[in-house]
Amino acid sequence: MKKPTVTQIKNVLKDFEPKKGSLLIPILQKIQETFGYVPPESLKLIVRHINVAQSKIYGVLTFYAQFSTTPRGKYIIRPCRGTACHVRGAQNIISKIKSKIKLEDGETTPDYKFTLETVACLGACALAPMVVIGKDYHGNLTPDRIDAIIDSCK
Ligand code: FES
Repeated sequence: MKKPTVTQIKNVLKDFEPKKGSLLIPILQKIQETFGYVPPESLKLIVRHINVAQSKIYGVLTFYAQFSTTPRGKYIIRPCRGTACHVRGAQNIISKIKSKIKLEDGETTPDYKFTLETVACLGACALAPMVVIGKDYHGNLTPDRIDAIIDSCK
């Protein structure tokens, strides 16, 4: 994955009218959506663009799990390790995913295709065990089904 240039980051920022503070979250969302993460190089540019303290940006980045300051995979695989999923075999699903894509929790494949991030609950416990890949929810999973679902990720 190529690091975005300053010009590319400035191109994203120019869609946002300079205005103190209030635009911080939409700007971070747009940067994350555009580059797949919030490059550290973008922080100084945001500070200058909307005149917000860099510490405030760090605060937002660490508070919201949706933001990442390191590049992540095209497909973010989020298996649930919550109680309902656990009692219905989540560990087998998670083990299958780990062995298939050869990642531990929080890691990204060298080709930036997959990132693995286990989560505490996906809010769909009735469908346990659950995995979200990108925006798609997959419930009542078995190791064989998750295997086929990962194979279908192009
Ligand atoms: S415990 Fe897995 S979705 Fe709630």
